[in-house]
Amino acid sequence: MAAKRFLHGADYNPEQWIKYKREVWKQDMERAKQAGVNELSVGIFSWSFLEPEDGVYDFSWLDEVMDMLHENGIRAILATPSGARPPWMAKKYPSVLRMDHERKPNVFGGRHNACYSSPDFRRKVTEINTQLAKRYANHPALYMWHVSNEYNYECHCPRCQEAFRDWLRARYHTIDNLNDSWWNTFWSHRFSDFSQVESPTTPSMLGEWESPNHNLAWRRFCSDHLAAFFELECEPLHKYTPNIPVTANLMHTFPGLDYFDLGRRMDVVSWDNYPRWKGDEEDVAISAATSFKHDLMRGTGGQKPFLMMESCPGAVNWGDHNTLPPPGTVLYQGMQALAHGSDSVQYFQFRAGRGGSEQFHGAVLSPDGSDQTRAFREVSETGRMLEKLDEIAGSKTDNKVALVYDWHVRWALDYAWLGHRFDQKYEETVQAHHTALTAAGYGVDVIDQLSDLTPYKAVVAPMLFLLRDGFAQRLTNFAKAGGVVMLTYLSGYVDEEDLRYMDTPPLEALTGVRVDECDAFTHGHENSFLWRDVQWPIKEVAQLSTPITAQVLADYQQQFYKGMPTLTRNAVEKGYCYTLQARTHIDCLTAVYQDLLQSHGIEPLVGGLPAGVIATARYGADGQRYLFLLNSQREPVSAALPAGLTNLLTGETTQGDTVLNAFSVTVFRG
Ligand code: GAL
Repeated sequence: MAAKRFLHGADYNPEQWIKYKREVWKQDMERAKQAGVNELSVGIFSWSFLEPEDGVYDFSWLDEVMDMLHENGIRAILATPSGARPPWMAKKYPSVLRMDHERKPNVFGGRHNACYSSPDFRRKVTEINTQLAKRYANHPALYMWHVSNEYNYECHCPRCQEAFRDWLRARYHTIDNLNDSWWNTFWSHRFSDFSQVESPTTPSMLGEWESPNHNLAWRRFCSDHLAAFFELECEPLHKYTPNIPVTANLMHTFPGLDYFDLGRRMDVVSWDNYPRWKGDEEDVAISAATSFKHDLMRGTGGQKPFLMMESCPGAVNWGDHNTLPPPGTVLYQGMQALAHGSDSVQYFQFRAGRGGSEQFHGAVLSPDGSDQTRAFREVSETGRMLEKLDEIAGSKTDNKVALVYDWHVRWALDYAWLGHRFDQKYEETVQAHHTALTAAGYGVDVIDQLSDLTPYKAVVAPMLFLLRDGFAQRLTNFAKAGGVVMLTYLSGYVDEEDLRYMDTPPLEALTGVRVDECDAFTHGHENSFLWRDVQWPIKEVAQLSTPITAQVLADYQQQFYKGMPTLTRNAVEKGYCYTLQARTHIDCLTAVYQDLLQSHGIEPLVGGLPAGVIATARYGADGQRYLFLLNSQREPVSAALPAGLTNLLTGETTQGDTVLNAFSVTVFRG
């Protein structure tokens, strides 16, 4: 078995340099060695070079690249090229062009814009993927497949409309079931046949755009349709290279795709990480957001090690203001990925092109190939660091606290006509709970409503607005068996079909409170509640509820609902369900989690961490624990750590108070 190693690599586009390959490719290999680069992702946008004319393939350059990578000890992550089409394809097969919500077809250009229902596109993708899989099946450099690039999908062409209708037929069987599920008697929208259903026209409002149920169905269809396209892409890969793992690079909370569903279909999840570091105190929040995204991405892959497929070793160029990342960013960013379970640190891209819209995007190498740049030095430093940490590669997390983030909830809230109509802040809220849990010292797994709950002692599910079939019961069983559940306002309002309940809502027995109303406000609507003798501010959302069996732990201090509960606890056989009825400050959430979880014997990885410091842990197959301490502050801090942890890089052992360097990640064994 090959020794465990972290991947250290980048997207690599050698075909852009084919005219200068003698010098440039040679220099690329030298620089890769200098920087400790052991992986390069190739072929991502190479279709027009691989198939310059319909059915005419040219793999000679890729053969050369693959051989060169192998000779230099570099693993190849080989892409399928569907992320961007060659121009001839759009001319010859116009069905490959997407149609927007106004039913206007695109013209050739850009990328990530193919119609996945197009029979021509499907055929051409299958053909080229088959060619690639057959040709490189036994190539020693082939390490993994990288399917397409940052998949997204929304197309309103006639074929996609038909595919949507087929999807609806399969889900609802009869048009009456669909009408009932979408509450179509409202505004006289009852269909008499599936053929009358059209995709929603948000945001143009040309046709249907207001129905939450219709919109949710369209989101679900788009996600399923794309997942099916992913399966189509994988077929030849699985057939000809059954032992080569498959990944697709994701974009954290991208709304267009249920990444848990897609993640369950791949061998390894990978994602593209582009935090915009500032070099000041704002980095604490940026780091916290990035930690949430890493945990979410690991979750979509079932908590296995994942890959950080892209990150920028300099400034990106697509923002309005592309601030330079301060020195040390590459290392922090890479180590943060490792801390959350990544088995790689990869960049976009290895060598920047001379032209194209990404000519000024940060890269390991500028077009001149110099090794004297800050980016190159920082990448090389990270490479050296990774080599010292290789024993951690492949190790897994084992967290006891799960946090629910579910795309179906997100979609339902995106289209929900209630509260803060245009932004219910689902993502922001789940992330705030993540930040609070990690600030309280816990390692967190992010899961969806289909995930297994048995590994956990506590499940936190903020704004669980839509209940997918069976989840309320599974959550209740989890509590009955001794688990701790934490819920909030806006939970359990609608069922799987986005319909309100006629009977007792399924979460009522679990929470022990009856939800009466929910208030949404902005400024000038003060409220607060008391916890640990501190008045904590309530912002934006306050749910009004009446306790049935729950005990009230805190109540509203102002407004006409003064005295109604803000925090309740309900005993459910061996476990408990807490419900936080209002939105509050992260520091308050941190205090609440510290108190509540510890009161149930759920211990943090490290308690009493200073602000801006979090801990994560990975465990080797032999049970060896690796503890990561992330200090996202721009100054060193002293943390009271347990004695006897060995710093993996310095060999020093902790005695108690330990200094964590400014903006650093420290790894301990023990
Ligand atoms: C990613 C994309 C890359 C590159 C990069 C630039 O989203 O996958 O191909 O465009 O952004 O930041």
